[in-house]
Amino acid sequence: MATLLLGRFALNRAVNLGLTRMIGNSLNRRTMHLHQNHAFINGKWVGARSGLTFDVTNPANEQVLGTVPDMDINDVNDAIDAAHNAFYDKKWHNSTAKDRAALLKKWFQLLEKNRKEIALIMTAESGKPIAESEGEITYGNSFVEWFAEEARRVYGEIVPTPQSNRQMMLVKQPIGVAGLITPWNFPHAMITRKASAAIAAGCTVVIKPAEDTPLTALALTKLAEEAGFPKGVLNVVTSSRKNAASVGKLLCQSEKVAAISFTGSTEVGKLLYKQCANGIKRIGLELGGNAPFIVFKSADLDKAVIGAMNSKFRNCGQTCISANRFLIQDEVHDEFISRLTEKIKALKIGDGSHDGVQIGPLINHAQINKVTQFVEDAKQKGANVVLGGRQLSEHGALYFEPTIVSHLRDDMKLYREEIFGPVVSIIRFKTEEEALQIANATQRGLAGYFYSNDLNQVFRISKLLETGMIGVNEGLISAAEAAFGGIKESGIGREGSKYGIDEYVYIKYLCYGGLE
Ligand code: SIN
Repeated sequence: MATLLLGRFALNRAVNLGLTRMIGNSLNRRTMHLHQNHAFINGKWVGARSGLTFDVTNPANEQVLGTVPDMDINDVNDAIDAAHNAFYDKKWHNSTAKDRAALLKKWFQLLEKNRKEIALIMTAESGKPIAESEGEITYGNSFVEWFAEEARRVYGEIVPTPQSNRQMMLVKQPIGVAGLITPWNFPHAMITRKASAAIAAGCTVVIKPAEDTPLTALALTKLAEEAGFPKGVLNVVTSSRKNAASVGKLLCQSEKVAAISFTGSTEVGKLLYKQCANGIKRIGLELGGNAPFIVFKSADLDKAVIGAMNSKFRNCGQTCISANRFLIQDEVHDEFISRLTEKIKALKIGDGSHDGVQIGPLINHAQINKVTQFVEDAKQKGANVVLGGRQLSEHGALYFEPTIVSHLRDDMKLYREEIFGPVVSIIRFKTEEEALQIANATQRGLAGYFYSNDLNQVFRISKLLETGMIGVNEGLISAAEAAFGGIKESGIGREGSKYGIDEYVYIKYLCYGGLE
């Protein structure tokens, strides 16, 4: 048995290494059936009308992995038309929930079957360690499975009527074409979380993946094609940073698009929200956070340290729900830092495609510049760098050392803004009231975390912490079954869970009168 397992492991490893090498060289289309260099509109793989393309690079070494079409508003109009025709003329809106569920299940099976290849593509273009990419495949696929199941439970209601000659019904109908704008930090899961909910509801979609990570999106699309998605139901347009703003604006302003769902920065979210206002368009926004991670003196410190590592270093800190401000109670402050320091020192840094690497590069130059400036700003204003604090140019241009900064003050960027990098910023507090005051003193309200073994405190803080999601003695909270979303300026709407489909349906009230 041991030999068998070893044999299989060795084989998997050989396959992995082979694929890794291919990805390292360039994503080879003949051998990598999931590597697409065209976008997908109306069931066809197409280039940009302009013929322009842009490069996709590997953040681990900045080598070019391939090119994809640099689409502009003309191409996006084609995609919107295709999605609109599929919804109305080809009658996707009339498809049965059973058929849609079957299609999503087929897609799920193909995604599962190709998980290794997708993970390699994702690591190559996002820099995410391979184990994390595989974790994201599990997470991303789980949305497809979940919404395949949920598709058949979009029930309406028969409402007790106040007049006996009337019958009142509420039915849920798909809203139409959904424009989905997705980020680079979860190149798979943010697409499946939105697209499978929309398709389960009976909508058609136009997906605009982030310019840094279009290859994963196209790989998922290839499998959707193989699963048999009808023409125009799922369209993907790729565009460079230069065209991103005009493409986003068109999706928000086109009368043929009924709903927008966006995951990304609060700044861009606000802009899209304004652009949707004129058409009173349905919009779901999952925006930036500034997550507090509070450790009270009653906490199990070992569990708190594990939670801190999971929350902070997932995807090198480039996660909207990543712990951003660590609030540590006076009595356990030094001990927490000391235990956390040991764990951080043990992290393996490097190219995410290499065995055992836990911390890869940041996604691009803008991101590493931002993280570096935030740490410099804190240093200049008197913060204490306990560990790290510098770029790791020996690994490549985009690596930042896992860092701990303590003695934070509220005028520092690390305190006020979302870091999106491997930096633990620590604030010391004395009382529960003080912790809550600091935690809630922000316009962001996506996720929050706290560790406490005091039951009364657990209930108090759960109620008073102003975030849409809370990890209580837990640092990893994401799941398809959970309602993901924020309050304040962190967004509107919910993704995943039984509520995720609601973003893509409207309730129609039917009043049948004059009944005898
Ligand atoms: C995000 O960072 O935008 C999403 C993270 C998650 O779904 O866990």
